Amino acid sequence: MLDIKEVEVKNLIVDKFIEEKVKEISSIVGNGLAVNALSGGVDSSAVTMLGHKALGKNLKTYFIDNGIMRQDEPEWVVKLFKDMGVNVELIDAKEEFFNALKGITDPEEKREAITNAFYKDVFTRLVKQSGARYLLQGTNYTDIEETVAGVKRQHNILQQIGIDTQQAYGYKVIEPLVQLRKPAVRKVAQALSLPEEIFNRPPFPGPALSARVIGEVTPQRIELIRKATSIVEQELKSTQAFQYLAILHEDKVTGVRDGKRDFGFQVEVRCWDSTDAKTGTPTKLSHDILATLADRITQEVEGVVSVTYNITKKPPSTIEAI
Ligand code: XMP
Repeated sequence: MLDIKEVEVKNLIVDKFIEEKVKEISSIVGNGLAVNALSGGVDSSAVTMLGHKALGKNLKTYFIDNGIMRQDEPEWVVKLFKDMGVNVELIDAKEEFFNALKGITDPEEKREAITNAFYKDVFTRLVKQSGARYLLQGTNYTDIEETVAGVKRQHNILQQIGIDTQQAYGYKVIEPLVQLRKPAVRKVAQALSLPEEIFNRPPFPGPALSARVIGEVTPQRIELIRKATSIVEQELKSTQAFQYLAILHEDKVTGVRDGKRDFGFQVEVRCWDSTDAKTGTPTKLSHDILATLADRITQEVEGVVSVTYNITKKPPSTIEAI
């Protein structure tokens, strides 16, 4: 199915892998310039460190604020890397992304709109401005596998679905982590001196909070799910689960508040036990934790009158909602 050979975590010799990838990146880019987008996830963080090791000042790293990130994420990530000596330029592209997502409700169309806004619009502009000819990105083995299998179009998959990036966008893509799954990427990230809050970070999807909004993605609906996500992350961090998230449903339901009818929003909480996101089982959370989540979300997130917990395994569910 794939002509990429996986390096399993048990066979990974981390220092050798890093050394080889650093050499590979330097030899491809030569004296030219490369760019990369950092999102704060373990994959793009590892690639940022590998790229800086290989290219130093010849790698320009951007954080694209697409408006669909978690609470305070852009500023937090930029500061964390600055403290490690890596300069990251924050690009405000909120309007561009919300415009691209306007009116779209179909999950795959949403993903495609994000891919286009990211690669065709924002990145093509940044690459042109900087004069770079290469984009370094943290695609991993699972991303490709799921896209090729037709489960979901992962937003960062281009070459593997037949997009010639040089022709379509004017730059080539380098993907140093493509042979690794998440547990192996975490080892590489740790060896690259990234802090634990990065190398052990639960995964977060490329399409960000828009993967958790069923129906149209608007600034208001993103704000709602951002607040719910922040509560879920605070309450479930100590579970050490693989991933935990909140989803905003499209349908509204009747609730009651202060003795009056309140036709409001429904939020679904998911919390997963998994090792590689290929399969997953809902974590057996206590009723006390579930009750706290319901209370906090309905009290702190305006307009929410119902909170549910997903009890379905993957498959047939998937980790994210879209
Ligand atoms: P699903 O929802 O397909 O998710 O069960 C599997 C894992 O991948 C993450 N995910 C994505 N990551 N781009 C990404 O980089 C994407 O488009 C994307 N969609 C899902 C998800 O959070 C889970 O860890």
